Amino acid sequence: MMIFESLKPQILQIVSSKENTVDERLLDICKLLEKNISYYNWVGFYFRNSNKEELILGPYVGAPTDHTIIPFGKGICGQVAVSNKNFVVPDVSAQDNYIACSITVKAEIVIPVFVDGKNMGQIDIDSNTPNPFTEADERFLEFVCENVATIL
Ligand code: SME
Repeated sequence: MMIFESLKPQILQIVSSKENTVDERLLDICKLLEKNISYYNWVGFYFRNSNKEELILGPYVGAPTDHTIIPFGKGICGQVAVSNKNFVVPDVSAQDNYIACSITVKAEIVIPVFVDGKNMGQIDIDSNTPNPFTEADERFLEFVCENVATIL
């Protein structure tokens, strides 16, 4: 999709903005995606705790969430921490192992961030639109995660 191609240079620019902290750059990525992709309504990063099997919420945009810590295996995010695979959920109401953050959310996509082959975290996107994600979203978000990995 055209929008993804036009966002890629902006992702590269944010990632290489060395005058900003890593968290500032991650937040800028969240803002860029939420602002420009109409069906991305909550965009955030979770990263693994270095000494415990749990995810910790990092920078995000969208409604505040209570789920600042997610144990491995729990919810869509916790499952990706274990599977090391993309997880695309077209309809969250059809998932048993799902942690609801907001009743407006219809769909979710989670893409892992690998550093030297190790699953260090993920980008998590919630959508208020049912079944909005395609393989183009996966490829674009893999690009985002590959570039994020270079600054972790
Ligand atoms: N829905 C996620 C929890 C995180 S929120 O979407 C921000 C899950 O099931 O893991």
